[in-house]
This record gives sequence, structure tokens and C-alpha cells, in this order.
Amino acid sequence: MERSVILVKPDGVQRGLIGEIIRRFERKGLRLAGLKMISLDDALLDEWYAHHKDKPFFGKLKAYMKSYPVVAMLLEGLDVVVTIRKMIGITKAREAEPGTIRGDFAMSQQYNLIHASENAEIAKREEELLFDKREIFEWKKLDYDHIYLEDERL
Ligand code: CMP
Repeated sequence: MERSVILVKPDGVQRGLIGEIIRRFERKGLRLAGLKMISLDDALLDEWYAHHKDKPFFGKLKAYMKSYPVVAMLLEGLDVVVTIRKMIGITKAREAEPGTIRGDFAMSQQYNLIHASENAEIAKREEELLFDKREIFEWKKLDYDHIYLEDERL
């Protein structure tokens, strides 16, 4: 099974959408392997957003991500990185498809509520950056028998 790192960004925390966002992923059938609130600092953000460091919006992006705590989640499922990217919608939230998290709850390109790992390799790096081994839980999700065919999980 693959894992992806999700952040409910400061605007999602402020707007009281933490529960709604977790609820969507739980109802989809994803396994929550880690969950915590954390304040992001410069060192972490420089690494996290290294691919954006030359973009004109980098300074504002960092200031925004440091403005309030975020809620970090580690979610697991089959092809979960792609699945979650579909569930959150495109970056520019006002153009995101209705039914996606951004499409249903946000209007801005910066204040777009949520971060999700871009691909499986980045997901691994983000997991290592954010989660200590003791914060990752390998609990057995009993309803997997009703979410996947046994063959799909192997
Ligand atoms: P995300 O795609 O999760 O990761 C990069 C973030 O930078 C993006 O969400 C937005 O929050 C922010 N971002 C991207 N493009 C812009 C932009 N043009 N102006 C301001 N913020 C942006």
C-alpha cells in the first residue's frame, strides 16, 4: 500500500475545516496512519517547497504556511497519491471541480486549504521530514475486506 502526506493548511485550520477534510478521507476508505498538529518553520518550509524557491510567490507562501499551525496526516491506500490529488482538486481553488475539497470550500490560488504529496517519491520524502517513526501507526483496518478485493491489496 502507498502512503501520502496531507496538510490542512492554516486557512483550513482557521476556517474550521479540519474535521470535514479528515471525514472525506475516512469515508473514502483510506487508512489514517498518522495525525498531528504542527507549526512549520523556515528550515522545514525551505526543504518542503524547494521546487518553488524561485517563484515570485515563494515569500508569501512561506509566510502563510507559518502563520498558524497546520494539521498533518499520513494516509494509506492503493494508489493513494493519485486518488488524493483527485479528491483535493487543482491549485487554483475557484476553478477546482465541484465535489473536490478545494472546489467545494475555497476560492483562492494561495489559500487553497490543503497540501497533498505530488507523487510517491515526494510522499516518502515528506513522510520522513514530518513524521517520527513513533508517530506512524501500523494498525489493521478491519473494514479493508469490504473496501478492496483481496487480490487488489496484495
Ligand atoms: P500547493 O499546490 O499545495 O503547493 C504550492 C502552494 O503555493 C500552492 O498550493 C498554493 O498554496 C501556493 N501557490 C501556488 N501558486 C501561487 C500563486 N500564483 N500565488 C500565490 N500562491 C500560490
